[in-house]
Amino acid sequence: MLHRLDHDAVKDRQSLLAAFRAVRAETERRAACLTPEDQIVQSMPDASPTKWHRAHTTWFFEQFLLYPHQSGYRVFDERFAFLFNSYYVAAGPRHARPQRGLITRPDAAEVTAYRAHVDRAVETLIDTLAAPAWPEAARIIEIGLNHEQQHQELLWTDILHAFAQNPTHPVYDPAWRAPPATDEPQAFVDLPAGIHAVGHDGRGYSFDNEHPCHDVLIGPVRLSRGLVSNADWLAFIAAGGYREPALWLSEGWARGEAEGWEAPGYWFMRDGDWFAMTLAGAERVDPRAPVCHVSYYEADAFARWSGRHLPSEFEWEVAARHGLLADAFGIVWQWTRSAYLPYPGYRAADGALGEYNGKFMVNQMVLRGSSLATPAGHERASYRNFFNPAARWQFSGLRLADYV
Ligand SMILES: [Fe+2]
Repeated sequence: MLHRLDHDAVKDRQSLLAAFRAVRAETERRAACLTPEDQIVQSMPDASPTKWHRAHTTWFFEQFLLYPHQSGYRVFDERFAFLFNSYYVAAGPRHARPQRGLITRPDAAEVTAYRAHVDRAVETLIDTLAAPAWPEAARIIEIGLNHEQQHQELLWTDILHAFAQNPTHPVYDPAWRAPPATDEPQAFVDLPAGIHAVGHDGRGYSFDNEHPCHDVLIGPVRLSRGLVSNADWLAFIAAGGYREPALWLSEGWARGEAEGWEAPGYWFMRDGDWFAMTLAGAERVDPRAPVCHVSYYEADAFARWSGRHLPSEFEWEVAARHGLLADAFGIVWQWTRSAYLPYPGYRAADGALGEYNGKFMVNQMVLRGSSLATPAGHERASYRNFFNPAARWQFSGLRLADYV
C-alpha cells in the first residue's frame, strides 16, 4: 500500500512510527516480486541493484539517525557502512558505484535481516528517545523516509533497465498498467505574465534544493496542457527527426550516434510494429500514451522540430500552481530547459547530509512533476528532479512551451 507522508503529522511519535512502517514496507513490496538473482544485477553504472537500494536506505537510518541519536546502538555489520554508503564523503570511504553489482554477499536474505534489525532500533528510538532530542531525530527520520521514497522510484527504473537487457523481456508485475493520460484535445494555455514566487514556501516537507523561495519574471508564454504523446513521437521519427543533425544539440547528436538512438529508450521493432519494454514486459507502443524514456537531448530535438521549446522549470512551476497543466504528476517526469543550479542564496546544510543535493548542481538538467514510479504523496509543485541530459532510463517525457 502506498502511503502519504504528512509533514505536520510526522512530528507526533505515533504518526511518525506509522509513516516509518508504511514507507519501509513499500520498499519491500516493490522488491517482493524479484528473485534473489534479480536483486543482484547492476545493468549499468548509473543503475543500482535492488538489494543495494534495500540496504542503502537502511544504512541511511543507521548512519544519520541511530549512530548519533541512539546510545548503545549495536551495529548489524560494521562492513556494511563501506558497502552501502552511496556518495557521502563525510560519512567515510565507500565502495565504487559501478561495482555494486559484484556484491553477491551479503545475500538478499541477509539484507532482509539487516532491514529488520534497523527497523527494530528505529522503532525503539521513536518510542523511547528523550523529549529534548526528539525534534532533531524526527527531522532526520523524515529525511530518511523521503530519501527511501526516492530510492523506491529508482528501484523500479533500475530493475526495468536490467530487465530490458534480457532478450526474453521479463515481466516485473503482470498486473502493472500504465496510468492513463488525460483524454482531452491538445491545447496551449497562457501563463499569467508577471512576477511570481517559485520554490518551497516552508509549509510541508521539502528538500533543500527547493529553497530559498524567490521571485521570477514570467514573460508571455504558453505551455501545452498535455504531455507529448507517442503518436507525436512517431511523427517525429517518421519525419526523420533522429537523422537530421540540424535539430540536435552537438552533444546529443554525438551521443545518439554513439548509442544508435532511433526511437525512445526501450523501444524495439517486432513484425513492423513498435514495442516497448515496460514493468509488465514488452508491450505494443500505445500512440495515445505519453512518450517515455527520452533523454533531454531527444526532448530538445523534438521541441525544435515542433517549432517550439521546452519550458523553463519556473514556467512549469507557475503553470502547475495555477492548475493549467494536465498530467503534471504521476505519469512521466518532464524535462525543462533549466540547468540544475542553486536558487539565489542557497546554502547546503552543514555536515554529511549537506551532500544530499547541493554538490550535484552542475552538468544536469531539471525535470519537474513526478512519474508513475513516484510513491504517492512524494510529489509537489516545487520538487526539482535532476539528471544528466543523456539519461533515458528514468520515466522521463516532456511538454512544450510556445512563445509566439
Ligand atoms: Fe541514497
